[in-house]
Amino acid sequence: MPTAPSLLEERSGATGSANGSTLTARVEVPSVATPSATALSATAPDIVRPSVTKLKPYVPGKPIEEVKRELGLPEDFTIYKLASNENVLGPSPHAIEAINRVAGETWLYPDDTCFDLKNALASFWNLSPDHFIVGNGSDEIIHFLSLALLDGDDEVIFADPSFVQYKAAAMMADCAFRAVPLTADMRHDLKAMRAAVNERTKLIFIANPNNPTGTVVTRQEFEALLDGLPPRAVVVLDQAYLEYVEDMNSPRGIEYIHEHNVVVLQTFSKAYALAGLRCGYGIARPELTGYLQQVRGPFNVNMLAQAAAIASLQDTAQVDRAQSVNREGKNYFYTSFDEMGLTYAPTEANFVLVDTGLPSKDVFQELLKRGVIVRTGDPFGMPTWLRVTIGTPEMNERFISSLRAILSG
Ligand SMILES: Cc1ncc(COP(=O)(O)O)c(C=O)c1O
Repeated sequence: MPTAPSLLEERSGATGSANGSTLTARVEVPSVATPSATALSATAPDIVRPSVTKLKPYVPGKPIEEVKRELGLPEDFTIYKLASNENVLGPSPHAIEAINRVAGETWLYPDDTCFDLKNALASFWNLSPDHFIVGNGSDEIIHFLSLALLDGDDEVIFADPSFVQYKAAAMMADCAFRAVPLTADMRHDLKAMRAAVNERTKLIFIANPNNPTGTVVTRQEFEALLDGLPPRAVVVLDQAYLEYVEDMNSPRGIEYIHEHNVVVLQTFSKAYALAGLRCGYGIARPELTGYLQQVRGPFNVNMLAQAAAIASLQDTAQVDRAQSVNREGKNYFYTSFDEMGLTYAPTEANFVLVDTGLPSKDVFQELLKRGVIVRTGDPFGMPTWLRVTIGTPEMNERFISSLRAILSG
């Protein structure tokens, strides 16, 4: 009995005559050219990888323009976005100068190898350029780690709550993961994370400081985790907020890359205030960065980002200013939270996690009306907590006075 032709057979005319006119007629069969919606939805589960159906898209902080549109606020109403841990002081003037200098060159593809940027990073960190892999944000390096290192049987370990992209990295590769709860004082439980290691463990992500808590691990805790790890396990020390860290007893990843499978992540999005350009990098032994280079797409770091990053690295005064504004804002938040009787996590980053004692979704909405965008703790399983980025004194005061008004009902 003849079987029904597949779409491919119909389109190629394989079941028709060899005559050219028959072939044309078959290709134009409407049901082939425009399959019905029912047929499409019926095939959807078959075309997508099962692990992808479980992934949730990253939810970014709410943009200022969206808030104005949604709340019908006037154009000239000032809204402060304290939701994405950006550096509110803005980029270095040298970075802006560098962007302007290369703006007219953007008809050309950027330098695929990031030659100048890697050399600038090499002298900044006192390493050779092959220790670096540069990405479209450090997010992209996390993606490279997933692509280059993870296979279906591997396992990934990270803290809960921590930066959401670690889980995405595991899920994209169809890998099992172990999300290890933080300690009672909201720090990585490195002992429990070490105990979760087995012969399948491939990646262990540690955000130091952690997002969303701002807490850090100690050198001793970190070294105990590294001690005797199976050789196939790679530790990713994500230092997106390193420039804000004051605690000198917290590890600096660079010290561990030569002797261990440690990949350090750094970014220009936070203290260097270049989030909009997307530029981050990984530091590791050249053997490891070499594997990550293999999965990198061509021209992944744009020309403006490369130029601005090089200029920013040289502007240490800008980072000093970010640190001192952050320190001042942090102390103001602590004093204000203490006065309000609120619990918060002591932070080593440019944001603070605070327990308002009320559903944070409601507090979030009330803050929006007063022109302050923050993050609710719901995605982190902390429904009464808010994460707020430390801003300028003016921004911080607006946040605190709004919060006081909301809490006093
Ligand atoms: C801990 C941590 N790692 C990595 C990133 C990603 O930064 P980017 O891709 O902008 O370099 C973020 C962003 O918020 C973060 O909080």
